[in-house]
Amino acid sequence: MPDRLSSIRATLDSYGQGHLLAFWDELDEAHQAALLTQLHGIDFDQLQVLIETLVVRTQQAERPRDVEPAPYYAQEPGSTYDAGHYREVGEELLRAGKVAAFTVAGGQGTRLGWKGPKGAYPATVVTGSPLFRVFAEQILANQDRYGKTIRWYILTSPANDTPTRAFIQDNRCFGLDRRNIFMFPQATIPSIEAETGKLLLTDKGRVAVNPDGHGGSIKALVASGAIDAMLARGVEHISYFQVDNPLVKVIDPLFIGLHAAAPDSSGEMSSKMVRKTSPDEKVGIFCRADGKTIVIEYSDPPDELAQQRDDDGRLRFCAGSIAVHMLGVKFVKKLASGDDGFALPYHRAEKIVPYVDTKSAELIQPTQPNAVKMETLVFDALPLAESSIVYETSRIEEFAPIKNAQGNDSPATSHQLQSDRAGRWLEAHGVTVPRDADGHVSARIEISPLTALEPNDLAKLDLPDTIEPGQTIAL
Ligand code: UTP
Repeated sequence: MPDRLSSIRATLDSYGQGHLLAFWDELDEAHQAALLTQLHGIDFDQLQVLIETLVVRTQQAERPRDVEPAPYYAQEPGSTYDAGHYREVGEELLRAGKVAAFTVAGGQGTRLGWKGPKGAYPATVVTGSPLFRVFAEQILANQDRYGKTIRWYILTSPANDTPTRAFIQDNRCFGLDRRNIFMFPQATIPSIEAETGKLLLTDKGRVAVNPDGHGGSIKALVASGAIDAMLARGVEHISYFQVDNPLVKVIDPLFIGLHAAAPDSSGEMSSKMVRKTSPDEKVGIFCRADGKTIVIEYSDPPDELAQQRDDDGRLRFCAGSIAVHMLGVKFVKKLASGDDGFALPYHRAEKIVPYVDTKSAELIQPTQPNAVKMETLVFDALPLAESSIVYETSRIEEFAPIKNAQGNDSPATSHQLQSDRAGRWLEAHGVTVPRDADGHVSARIEISPLTALEPNDLAKLDLPDTIEPGQTIAL
């Protein structure tokens, strides 16, 4: 221990981070050992470069000069492709067991303020089903439909890995075979005090860290052995989605088919888009630059590019990302085995990080963002694909994110969108559904994925003729 301590003390001093040992003498042996292990695991050389570029100088990645809107496979009725054919291709891949589902759930979910893994959040309108159940039931229903196992991979973080496993096991894997669910944590990186460029202590014996962003999912897929396991079992494509959208289509045969077989897709990485509603909607935009598909992040206020309109007054850069992708298994493997080691660029995000003041020893709970979290973003892998396609989907069918406790993208807005979708599905079968003056469904309706994955599946059910205003109904 003394040798390890003096070597890390020298390293910390040389990087101006000596304060991390401020409480060393107060720690018991176990906590001292844990702190030493944590400090030895940090790559201070790499971190110093990131601090200089992203914290001290706040250098942003340069944007390519000639940026055009990304072309996309438009939804009906404007579509020019044979959707039936691509859906059949996707279904064939599912029947052959070549598709896995992948939920990224390593985020901290600070905006929602839910204590526990976000996948455990009770998200649905009537039964309060947790997000993980919503996804699991979709997997079950698709397995039934296509007669093949769909393996489910879940990205966790060191902070939420144990509670995530416990939650899924306590719920008996929601009826799935536990041997087909794989959970693995992503890497972390220290959070940095914005004003000083210093690392922070989350308590007297622990450095504050954050997960390394959803881009870390690519590295973690390989490091965990998940990719090799997929290759060994003949899985060729991964359906990637975030944990916070209860309307997401976990498995979408048409999107899978386009990704795998469209003439301009290399089958490496594809994306779903919805039309942006306004320039300031907080989603990234799919663009083309140097012949590659890229995402330009939302900026506040929206920059000139996001405001541009075409001759019809419609947003020119309209392809908003909902963070749903298809990934080729071989592509992920290739990314991680590049000559210079795999690295997506880090971006900065200003966040609130509670910390222990090393002078007063007090725990400080800031009310304004005080720290920079450095994160990699999965869509930075898009331009590394040979040829990457974008597919337009329906916002009202597939996008009801739960990000914030209140206001936009909150449980309340998501519930309304979930009832709206369920109402539309019922109306398609002749049910009279009550709506308010704004056209929203004024009843609480939930349709389990085990009952219907899409509107046609309701045909076999005995449905009510009418739903009354304010009624609660779960199918
Ligand atoms: P968000 O950007 O919403 O971040 O993540 P977050 O950390 O969950 O929430 P806030 O910002 O603290 O409120 C989008 C998706 O990416 C996953 C999240 O779990 C979510 O599904 N994610 C994010 C990771 O898996 N790892 C990360 O490091 C960051």
